[in-house]
Amino acid sequence: MSRSFRIAPGGQLSGTIRVPGDKSISHRSVMLGAIAEGVTEVAGFLEGADAISTMNVFRALGVRIDGPRDGRVTVHGVGLRGLRGALHPLDCGNAGTAMRLLMGLLAGQGFESTLVGDDSLSQRPMRRVAEPLAAMGAHIEMREGRPPVRILPSESLHGIRYPMPVASAQVKSALLLAGLYARGETTVVEPAPTRDHTERMLGGFGVELARDGAAVTLRGGQALRATAIDVPADISSAAFFLVGASIAAGSALVLEHVGINPTRTGVIEILRLMGADIAVDNQREVGGEPVADLRVRAAPLRGIAVPPGLVPLAIDEFPALFVAAACAQGRTVVTGAAELRVKESDRIAVMADGLRALGVEATPTPDGMVIEGRGGDAAVFASGVVEAHADHRIAMAFAMAALRAGGELTVRDTTNVATSFPGFEALARTAGLRIEGHAQR
Ligand code: S3P
Repeated sequence: MSRSFRIAPGGQLSGTIRVPGDKSISHRSVMLGAIAEGVTEVAGFLEGADAISTMNVFRALGVRIDGPRDGRVTVHGVGLRGLRGALHPLDCGNAGTAMRLLMGLLAGQGFESTLVGDDSLSQRPMRRVAEPLAAMGAHIEMREGRPPVRILPSESLHGIRYPMPVASAQVKSALLLAGLYARGETTVVEPAPTRDHTERMLGGFGVELARDGAAVTLRGGQALRATAIDVPADISSAAFFLVGASIAAGSALVLEHVGINPTRTGVIEILRLMGADIAVDNQREVGGEPVADLRVRAAPLRGIAVPPGLVPLAIDEFPALFVAAACAQGRTVVTGAAELRVKESDRIAVMADGLRALGVEATPTPDGMVIEGRGGDAAVFASGVVEAHADHRIAMAFAMAALRAGGELTVRDTTNVATSFPGFEALARTAGLRIEGHAQR
């Protein structure tokens, strides 16, 4: 049975909170720990359904993994060549990151694997990974470019130089992981900077990588040495609170220990361009990733044309940013964000539908949206019902809209919030959101 949120209007966000661990880094900690030599200890692991899917896949591939318990996970690495073929299809659940990175990791194994996922993941495009992997010598079969993905044994991959047609960290990471199993060098060239957690973490496991402008290169056959990983809080989860506190008068909130890797901080830059009051305090480095406490206060926002260069650096934050834009004074224009159409849902269509259902003038475009913001202090959103289409980030973005609504909001189909943000309702209530979760009728 699915769930829904009911959120009473108004309120403000205050206090000090820590959101769960970074999803991207949690996936990678298990993947790299599994193929390393020795025991990798992870702290701050995201105990959400997506990262758990990755854990269960590696267990099925013969890796012993203890936890998660209080964010602690122990991965008993089997070495680069120690994975064993699974008897059954490997279930990636809702996790696109798991499936795409696994395609790279499994492309050069001596056994066959099949990757499957839920309804949403089964609609997502996989050719973007399969095509360059085929150029490296992999044998991959799909159903019209979508899951299930069948990966046939291939122990003779060779490195390639691949200029990516889309700015995708998942594609880049899949090719680098395949590159570990390939003869020679694998080079990936990015059309725009994307999150670099794979490169940073590979470095932490002792793998040598070379960065030359937009190109990253690694040599195949390098062994990984187990390490300790401290996962920072996920800036993509913090983003809902950055927006909520910005739009709700009287808010003053601190988000602790948030990862502020510069390939992820587009949301802070965009909100600041809109006039948000966000301070980055107590900056430090934890396990190769920069971390800080974010202090946010309510501020009057203004509409902007979002610089396209910032789009890949905030790609998961647009559902929340669209809510901020509705509360800003004047027009916000987002372009260069066509990738939003192939996320857990078509985030351009689904957000535009939801915003319009709540009385906001929002016009979807092929690669973005135009939103006429209301500004001021009054209610922006009409009372109503919106559909999250099983997309965690859509659900949480509309939950925050209630802070500026004229009446109660219902957000339907919210079960998948647990993929990235277990405990969202309770934490949001602690901060001041008047949210209740219900079994959906
Ligand atoms: C991710 C990369 C991004 C992002 C996703 C996580 C990653 O996807 O949207 O949530 O962990 O590498 P793309 O590579 O498709 O842009």
